Amino acid sequence: MASHGSPIPMISTPCGALAGVAEVPGDKSISHRALILGAMCVGETVVSGLLEGEDVLATAQAMRDFGAEVTRDDDGTWHVQGVGVGGFAEPAAVIDCGNAGTGVRLIMGAMATQPITACFTGDASLVSRPMGRVTDPLALFGARAMGRSGGRLPMVIEGARDPVPVSYEVPVPSAQVKSAVLLAGLNAPGQTVVIECEATRDHTERMLEGFGAEITVAEEDGKRVITLIGQPELCPQVIAVPRDPSSAAFPVCAALIVPGSDVFVPGIGLNPTRAGLFETLREMGADLTYENPREEGGEPVADLRARYSPDMRGIKVPPERAASMIDEYPILSVVAANATGQTVMRGVKELRVKESDRIEAMARGLRANGVEVETGEDWWIVTGCGAGGVAGGAEVETFLDHRIAMSFLCLGMAAQAPVRLDDGAPVATSFPIFEPLMAGLGADIQKDV
Ligand code: S3P
Repeated sequence: MASHGSPIPMISTPCGALAGVAEVPGDKSISHRALILGAMCVGETVVSGLLEGEDVLATAQAMRDFGAEVTRDDDGTWHVQGVGVGGFAEPAAVIDCGNAGTGVRLIMGAMATQPITACFTGDASLVSRPMGRVTDPLALFGARAMGRSGGRLPMVIEGARDPVPVSYEVPVPSAQVKSAVLLAGLNAPGQTVVIECEATRDHTERMLEGFGAEITVAEEDGKRVITLIGQPELCPQVIAVPRDPSSAAFPVCAALIVPGSDVFVPGIGLNPTRAGLFETLREMGADLTYENPREEGGEPVADLRARYSPDMRGIKVPPERAASMIDEYPILSVVAANATGQTVMRGVKELRVKESDRIEAMARGLRANGVEVETGEDWWIVTGCGAGGVAGGAEVETFLDHRIAMSFLCLGMAAQAPVRLDDGAPVATSFPIFEPLMAGLGADIQKDV
């Protein structure tokens, strides 16, 4: 089983005002999809702004293992020479997706309707996450999966030799499951239909359309019905990946809670299926503005400006907003700890099957640092300590989860005493420049070895 290298303990010490420009890296979800779809068309796809975090680099390597040529220029431009829909080669090596649920689930989908067999694994976090949610629908296409008990990695997938198209209603709000089915549908003849009861991030649909697939989205009885015609000729694309709103969340939220801060975060993807956190923060009374809204590469984009907001109040986050901010609940809970009153987060049981059980991981670390948290199976409530009211001073466990690590580093910036992490290494999976970027704004984060 793969795992991270040695743990890197880190300490975040309360700091003065954060100020300046935060140029966060490219969107993780879009980066995975650009590489995978680039590998599934004939010709060269060119990608700029690709996130060069460990998760995406693992997907780049996987695409090479399936036969695509993936290279990087010195200026950070990536080139993918695709092999065409149905053209994957059988990998000779085990596909190690590291920490990346998106990587492994989307790649399983992409290969499941091709006549090849592949073996997948990942780090200690990924091998504990459920894969049945993806292998169940892939079985409908004719693929077979054999993994550890509970549908866990390591896992072998034998792709369908004669795939049939499917119609599948996704039982959990998951863009990864939806995307795995759509990518499998690419090499099935006829019409694959995916039905979502709750809208989740729609980058796969947008990008499939951009690559020339015949795909339609309709609203029927409050559900989203996505129809894809299989075995298209995909056309290589030039893709500019927008900056990641889930990464922007950290400098934005840190600025809201550190006295005197004023931070500008340019070029952030604000696809409505991703922007729920920013709406929530504004409802809490955050001084957060969108400037220069525009469209880039088929995605809405704006510059964000966040200023210290000492008067934020807790709110009840609407459960129907959960899918559009699912990765942001950890950092929201840090803001909630610095607000007054209670922040109530319901309809969030998916948080329990992320890189870690994020409700449990945040609740433990917040409590250790003097914050009151109540939890249930699919809800949690944080009682705010008011601006500057978090005691801090404790060590927290990050459970191989980048977003838990970055959330507690932000907590330390605004607490009364430093916050220490047992392991900050997972930050490199999605935001490899987090430490220097935050230091450039004025944060005090040190490796604590
Ligand atoms: C992602 C979908 C979400 C999200 C993950 C990225 C994607 O997961 O949490 O970080 O790129 O499709 P689920 O599909 O499990 O909700």
